[in-house]
Formats: sequence, C-alpha cells, structure tokens
Amino acid sequence: MNTEELVEVVLPGKVEPEELQVRRGAVPDAGPGQVVIRMEATGVSFAEQQMRRGRYYDQPPFPFVPGYDLVGTVVATGAGVPPGLAGTLVAALVKVGGWASHVVVDAADVVAVPEGIGAAEAETVVVNGITAWQMLHREARVRAGQTILVHGANGGVGSVLVQLAQAAGVTVIGTASARHHDTLRERGVVPIDYRAGDVAARVREVAPGGVDAVFDHVGGPGIVDSWRLLAPGGTLVAYGTASTRDDQGSKQWPVVKLLLRVWLWNALPNRRRACFYNIWAGRALSKDRFRARLRADLTQVFAALRRGDVTPQIAARFPLTHVAEAMRMAESGTVAGKVVLTP
Ligand SMILES: NC(=O)c1ccc[n+]([C@@H]2O[C@H](COP(=O)([O-])OP(=O)(O)OC[C@H]3O[C@@H](n4cnc5c(N)ncnc54)[C@H](OP(=O)(O)O)[C@@H]3O)[C@@H](O)[C@H]2O)c1
Repeated sequence: MNTEELVEVVLPGKVEPEELQVRRGAVPDAGPGQVVIRMEATGVSFAEQQMRRGRYYDQPPFPFVPGYDLVGTVVATGAGVPPGLAGTLVAALVKVGGWASHVVVDAADVVAVPEGIGAAEAETVVVNGITAWQMLHREARVRAGQTILVHGANGGVGSVLVQLAQAAGVTVIGTASARHHDTLRERGVVPIDYRAGDVAARVREVAPGGVDAVFDHVGGPGIVDSWRLLAPGGTLVAYGTASTRDDQGSKQWPVVKLLLRVWLWNALPNRRRACFYNIWAGRALSKDRFRARLRADLTQVFAALRRGDVTPQIAARFPLTHVAEAMRMAESGTVAGKVVLTP
C-alpha cells in the first residue's frame, strides 16, 4: 500500500499567486501504459504566468493543476510498462499537472535523465530546452558561421537558445534589459537593450546585411522589425506574444494575428521565411512521431548540458507549497533563469 500523500497546487480561477490552493489526497495509481513520477523538480514557466491571468491560448477550464514540465523518479509502473523503469530519474513535458508531488503520465512520454545531471538542473531545460533546440535546429536550421538575433536572450528559453546556438558555431545578438548585459557579454553575446533606443537600428549596426534568423517571443508590432531584419534566406521564428500578457480581451486574437502575418509574409514573393513555432504542433497528427522527436531533441539537450555547452540557470528554489513566492519572483522581471519548485 502506498503511504505517501499527494500534494498538488490548484489554480482555481483568475487569481493572484497567493490565492493558489494546496490540495492533499491519495497518490494516484498508474493505469495501463502509465507510470507514477514522484516529483523532484518542477518550475514556473511563462505559460503559468499567462494561465493565472486566463491568457494562455490553450489552457483547460479552471480549476486545474498547472505545471508545464517536471523531473522526478518513477515510483510505480502500470501494466505493460517495463518494471525496470521504476527508480529511474525521468523528465516529462505535460503542459498542465506538473505542480504536484506525484504525477501520472504515459510511460511513452518520459525521457530518462542521464547520470550526473541533477533534477533541478534537468528541469531548467525541459520545456525551455526542447523549445530552444527545435526552433534552432528544426525550424531555423542554423549553421556554423551564421548570425542570429535572440529576443529575451537571458530568459528561460532565450538563455538555452543562445548557448545551443553558440555550441553550433553561430554568432548571437541578444536583446535584454541592461541588467543582463554583463552576463550576456561574458557569454560572447552582443547585447542590445530592448527598453532603450531603436533596437532595429542597433542590430543593423552589428549586422548590416541582416541576420540569418530571428527568434521572437514578444509578438506585437515589433514582430515587423524582426521580419525586416532578416537577411535573404533568413528565417523568422515567432513563438509567443509576451507583449500581450497583461492585456484584456481575447487570448487567442494575438496568436491569430501573428499567424495571419506569418501566412502573409510567406505568401509574398521573397527569399525569407516565417513560421510560428508551437511545441505541441504535430501531436494531434501523430503521437508516436511527436514523442520520438521530443525524446530525440531532449536527449540532445541533456547531452549539451553534460558536455557543459549549456549551463543550467536556476534563479531560485522554493518548496511546492511556497508556489506564491515562486510565482511572484518569476513574474518580477528581475530574475535570470528558471524558478524551480521542489517537493
Ligand atoms: N511556442 C511555444 O511552443 C513556446 C514554448 C515555450 C515557451 N514559449 C514562450 O517563450 C516565451 C519565453 O518564455 P520563458 O519561460 O523563457 O520566459 P522568461 O524566462 O520570463 O523570459 C522572457 C524574457 O523576455 C524578455 N522580454 C520581455 N519583454 C521583452 C521585449 N519587449 N523584448 C525583448 N525581450 C523581452 C525578458 O527579458 P529581461 O529580463 O531582460 O527584461 C525575459 O528575460 C514566452 O512568451 C512563452 O510563452 C513558447
């Protein structure tokens, strides 16, 4: 009999972080093909900041347990799952449900964390690492010798993207608040303050012929500059609308507007390409293919972490029940790296 207790954080509606609720209950069982993961690290992603405002484009109805990803140990296996998986440290991308002491997922959705990588370190690169890797290598297909522009270069996704790009021999120009510029310079990134002056003009000073790829999570009117900064043959990878986080009104409209722009740009006769990256794209078409790609890509990111190509950036660690403080910190706009939640 399982004597452990389930502890999970519930988002009851559009609330302030302090109004998140802690719920306790029995640890669920693993059904056929499933495993129970005992969480060792989960984290606050940008998605949860949007979800508590009711502004994530694809969130479930309230109430629900947020938590985009987690790392933990398999403590139970269901029918049809190799029992040897028990005791393994694994990572899983779940979109919701990760803010819990125990999480049930399909065994096919877990990726083993290589030895030598701690749970919190691994957590920093699950959703952030997969996103960064796929945008760089599957969408923009960067090559050594190229130059790219990364918006939010010291953010959760941005910092991993920068390091993976550099490992691939790519030169990086990165926008960030001035307080991150020393860190970026130490990493060999050319920093540009997105809060001051004409960002596009500054990029053109550094790369007069344009850049080979732009990674833009900001959306809004600035996306037009991102498109115009591309060199012939370049790719714009749009992947968010962070600029509309605090807006009112439709949560889908900013994404729809972006998709329309992308469609229009690609329809024009030109030698540049735009895309809207979505980590879940393709899942509905083929779950097996989606899982295979995710497994392959996260494995590559973990390998980069082990080699030291990527340094895990942990902004702070909070126990799961201190989630309000964790959210406040993540939303403060003052942290560098991932705010990690632990049991
Ligand atoms: N499409 C997908 O499948 C997918 C998957 C994962 C994440 N995302 C998106 O990725 C984005 C980043 O997520 P994250 O977890 O990395 O967030 P994060 O850690 O909060 O980082 C975001 C960064 O954006 C920077 N920023 C804010 N406004 C900016 C602006 N106007 N110009 C340039 N940079 C700006 C901030 O920089 P400073 O701190 O320097 O001010 C911050 O470091 C979110 O929009 C999220 O929705 C999309």
